[in-house]
Amino acid sequence: MNKNNILTNKLRNDKWWISPLLVLLGLLSFIIYSTWAAWQGEYFWWSAGNEGFGGYLSPFYSPTVFIDSTKPGIPPIDHALLGLWPKWLSWLPGQSPAWLILIFPLSFRFTCYYYRKAYYRAFAWSPPACSIQPVKGIPSKVTGKEYKGETGLLIFQNIHRYAMYFAIIFIFILSYDAYISFFNNGNFGIGVGSIILLINPILLGCYVFGCHSLRHLVGGNFDCYSCSLYRNQVSHNSWKIVTMLNRRHQLFAWLSLIWVGFADVYVRLVSMGIINDLNTWEL
Ligand code: FES
Repeated sequence: MNKNNILTNKLRNDKWWISPLLVLLGLLSFIIYSTWAAWQGEYFWWSAGNEGFGGYLSPFYSPTVFIDSTKPGIPPIDHALLGLWPKWLSWLPGQSPAWLILIFPLSFRFTCYYYRKAYYRAFAWSPPACSIQPVKGIPSKVTGKEYKGETGLLIFQNIHRYAMYFAIIFIFILSYDAYISFFNNGNFGIGVGSIILLINPILLGCYVFGCHSLRHLVGGNFDCYSCSLYRNQVSHNSWKIVTMLNRRHQLFAWLSLIWVGFADVYVRLVSMGIINDLNTWEL
C-alpha cells in the first residue's frame, strides 16, 4: 500500500461519498419532519364522527398517553391511556403526547448497530467510509491510529438490548392500531389507511426481529456466530430465523423508518381533510 495514498486520501477512486450523503439527507429529513409532526399535537387521528369503535391513529402518537381535548383531529378521550392532559405537563411543546413516547423508538434506533454505523459515517465522518481518511483531528484506521469513534457513547449504546424489549412491546401496540383501523364507527371495512397502518407493524417487526441483540439473546448469549447449536436446537433454530431477517437489517431499518413517517403523513392529511381516504365505508 502506497503511503502517499494513505495520507492523501486516495485509497479509493469510486464515489464512496454517495452512501454517507444519502444517509445524511435521509436521516436529516426524517428528524426534521418527525420533530415537526411531534410538535403539532393535533391531526393525528381520523374517524368519521368520532363515535363507536375504530379509526386511524398516527404511529407517532401511539400509545396516546394523555389527550388535550381542545385540539382538532384527536382520538376520543377513552383512547387515552391516562385521560385528559394534566396541568403539570402544560410546558410540553404543543401539549403533544408524541413527546411522551418518543424516547422509546428514538433510543432503539439511535443505538441500533446499523444506524450507529450509518450516522457515525454520515454525521461525524469518523470515518465517512471504509479506507477513507476522516476529517482532521478524528483518528482512523487509515492513518494507523486507533479508531475511537464509538468510545464516547459506548456506555450509552449498551442500552440497546433494553430498548429492544420496549420495541417489541411497540410492535404489539401498533398491531392493535392496525386492527382498529379496519373499523369505523364499529363497522368492519377496509381503507387505504388500514392497509398503510397494517404494513407499518409488519415492517417494524422485520426490523426488530432482525436485531443483532435479539439474535445474540435467542442464540443463547454466545459471542460466536454458530455456537447456538451447542445450547439446544430451539435456540439454534431461533438464531437462524433472526439471522434471515438480520441479513436485510439495513433494508428493514430504512423501510420501517420511511413507512412510519409516511403513515403519519397519510393520517395527518386525511384528518385535516386535505385528502379523502378511499375505503369501503363510503365516507
Ligand atoms: S441492531 Fe439494529 S435494531 Fe438491534
